[in-house]
Amino acid sequence: MIEDVYAVENIIPEHEPERQFFYIKKMQEIVFAKEQEYGRKLTYHISTFGCQMNFKDSEKLAGVLEEIGYVEVDDEKADFCLYNTCTVRENANSRVYGRLGYLGKLKSKRPEMIIAMCGCMMQEEHVVETIKKSYRFVDIIFGTHNIYKLAELLFTYFAENSEIKKKHKMVVDILKGTDQIVEELPSKLKASFKAGINIMFGCNNFCTYCIVPYVRGRERSRKPEDIINEIKDFVSKGVIEVMLLGQNVNSYGKNLENPISFAELLRRVDEIEGLKRIRFMTSHPKDLSDELIEVMKNAKKVCHHIHLPVQSGSSRLLKKMNRVYSKEDYLRLIDKIRAAIPDIAITTDIIVGFPGETEEDFEETLDVVRYAKYASAFTFIYSKRTGTPAASFPDQVDEATIKDRFDRLLKEVGKYSEEYAKSLEGQVMSVLVEERDREVDPEKNYLTGRLDNNLLVHFEGSDDLIGQIINVKLSECKGFYYIGERYML
Ligand code: 5AD
Ligand code: SF4
Repeated sequence: MIEDVYAVENIIPEHEPERQFFYIKKMQEIVFAKEQEYGRKLTYHISTFGCQMNFKDSEKLAGVLEEIGYVEVDDEKADFCLYNTCTVRENANSRVYGRLGYLGKLKSKRPEMIIAMCGCMMQEEHVVETIKKSYRFVDIIFGTHNIYKLAELLFTYFAENSEIKKKHKMVVDILKGTDQIVEELPSKLKASFKAGINIMFGCNNFCTYCIVPYVRGRERSRKPEDIINEIKDFVSKGVIEVMLLGQNVNSYGKNLENPISFAELLRRVDEIEGLKRIRFMTSHPKDLSDELIEVMKNAKKVCHHIHLPVQSGSSRLLKKMNRVYSKEDYLRLIDKIRAAIPDIAITTDIIVGFPGETEEDFEETLDVVRYAKYASAFTFIYSKRTGTPAASFPDQVDEATIKDRFDRLLKEVGKYSEEYAKSLEGQVMSVLVEERDREVDPEKNYLTGRLDNNLLVHFEGSDDLIGQIINVKLSECKGFYYIGERYML
């Protein structure tokens, strides 16, 4: 009897992760019963918006769903459809509302479908209110602090909407913040040979334009031994590249019971046998230590690439942004890194149109671009986020001026990235072969490989190379990528 599965009072474990393993088992029973009823497997689909953190969260969510018995499908016509949302800029929000309209239509044709929303957008009260009011077909809402609870939330949903009761009840579970880090739950890697590893969660920096500290909470670091063990476990399953993830990895470990620096963590990860490449993201310039530069220089596996968001080149604006460094500090840092690691690829994030940005401020940004000669840069138009200090700053810049500056910035950034890519043409470099490429030239049997510096090269080769690190000659630079050929000694 499927109803018996809901009789769980008094037997629910109190602690994590045991509690979630309990709910995973319960959900396995429910999903199995549904499979019998439908005569097929139950399916899931996750759409992920935003940054690497969200993509990592989605891998964890997928891990739990697969453990429960769901199988993944490519589009939203699934039994369980989850949107993992981003709210760092307004256009990310608009896209989600647009897609929700489509999901509503799908659900009206397939009422048994479950629609769930999670991620940064859900941490904003006004978003949850809007969904409750205007998108009542949504079934489950949760935030960034409790993704580990997916099995429990699904169980609650099924229990509250079970056949006997019939009435639709939305399950909403948003925590304002948390100190908890739940380890050991399953996770499903998108690629079998590379993995993102959370080393810390949240951010304490409160840059005045940024909503992240409000939706992802205060900084919490994972214990180094948990991180090392997770990486070792991944390596034993075939992973050769890891990306260490945090909003500001340079402040990793400061608040642990036994404090440890990010540089020291990196040194320990570098020693893991079988691991071949290490990346990390993101570094705040204000906390980048000499120790880190030294470790990057001497480590065997750390890629010579650093993402170092500058945001603006104007010291005046950097102050208003609460970035805690000046233009000169930033340029000195670039010099120091380049002196230690001459072949390093430096990339950045830049915001155009921060409130009060004058032509002179913008010229300072262009000046930094020219000096730093970034290998690539993500450029963003300032987006006003409700609740952040900058949203109420005077002198919001008008749209036409922003557009003009944005175009000029793109041109300047493009010039240097092309120059950088061109400078490596003809060299032989090691690449991690990631996938088959069908877009660059469908006639050719191209694979895509990623260089140490994060650029891509397409070259002919067989499928068995996927997941391996091999040497490739960068025969022809095509602007931001290369056409190459496998190089054997
Ligand atoms: N408007 C535009 N860009 C933003 N970013 C963060 N908040 C905003 C905002 N309100 C950019 C920053 C950050 C990147 C992840 O997103 O450049 O480094
Ligand atoms: Fe946002 Fe600044 Fe934190 Fe980055 S460091 S997540 S830009 S507040």
